[in-house]
Amino acid sequence: MLDIGFDTVFLDDDNNAMVILDQTQLPGKTQYLSLKTKEEIWNAIYKLQVRGAPAIGIAAAFGIYISVKGSSAGTYDSFYEEFAEVKKYLSSSRPTAVNLFWALDRMDDCVKRHKDRSVSEIKQALLKESNKILEEDIKVCRKIGENGLSLLKPGMGLLTHCNAGTLATGKYGTALSPIYLGQEKGYRFKVYADETRPLLQGARLTTWELNQAGVDVTLICDNMASIVMKNGWIHAVVVGCDRVAANGDTANKIGTSGVAVLAKRYGIPFYVLGPTSTIDMQAKTGRDIRIEQRPGEEIYKEWYSKPMAPEGIKTYNPAFDVTDAEDITAIVTEKGIAYPPYTESLCQFF
Ligand code: MRU
Repeated sequence: MLDIGFDTVFLDDDNNAMVILDQTQLPGKTQYLSLKTKEEIWNAIYKLQVRGAPAIGIAAAFGIYISVKGSSAGTYDSFYEEFAEVKKYLSSSRPTAVNLFWALDRMDDCVKRHKDRSVSEIKQALLKESNKILEEDIKVCRKIGENGLSLLKPGMGLLTHCNAGTLATGKYGTALSPIYLGQEKGYRFKVYADETRPLLQGARLTTWELNQAGVDVTLICDNMASIVMKNGWIHAVVVGCDRVAANGDTANKIGTSGVAVLAKRYGIPFYVLGPTSTIDMQAKTGRDIRIEQRPGEEIYKEWYSKPMAPEGIKTYNPAFDVTDAEDITAIVTEKGIAYPPYTESLCQFF
């Protein structure tokens, strides 16, 4: 597999801090941050210094370990009380990506499984579990890449939205994983990256990481997806996901559902790629998925040297939207590819 050349989220050598590549500084600066407190970790997730559903999950797992590592609790009950408080706190950082809750629940199960051990042994078990979550994610992403590549042909033009690459995962990404794998095999894909307003994950992050890997990538504004499809340049759309409901409705970065509608209009396959940990069988449909609302300043201020709208203007800034299952050609996971009807096909993974 291609040498990606950077790591998104990991523990430092002494397991005393969680280290993240600060994604708000990209593409200008490659700066790593060392986070040691639960407040720093919460902030990093909230501010999208670490972002993307699987990476948020990994950060939450490392984050809860780092936060309780220094606990002076002497009994299981007092340790668990502290752990549960941090879990609740970190759970409140972002609502939509289910991986955050999935990873924290997994760490919770780990504590409970070791109930009859000493507090220091429980801490060791948590360290091991968090590293396992990272290692598993890397393997899962690689497998998603292999399954995704089976749907693609050399030379294809691919459109992607937001960033579902290495920066959003342990390594390789979900939607970008088949692109990396294809690059290794000489597939010469032509990738079009939507800029992804308002936080510009496509412009700042997807083009940065694909460009570094030598992939042919072209940046377009979000409102140019239609023209590149009409021009015949797009043969498939590949996107990630933050939460997939049991019926296949999929929450992903705001703007994704519009791309899916366009793809259907032009007869282009629309593929969602993600780990089975992003499938939430408790959510029956997209209506059960909570959509994060973010400050309006992100739309008109944050990325500009001066405000691009009148001060105090009314805004609506949902961070995600839900793509209807009927607009999705297939959902690609590490366990296989699901096709409609998703109510039946997603069950095979659980
Ligand atoms: O707000 P973000 O940047 O965390 O949103 C990220 C996305 O929407 C990604 O497409 C999704 O998390 C999949 S990442 C493999």
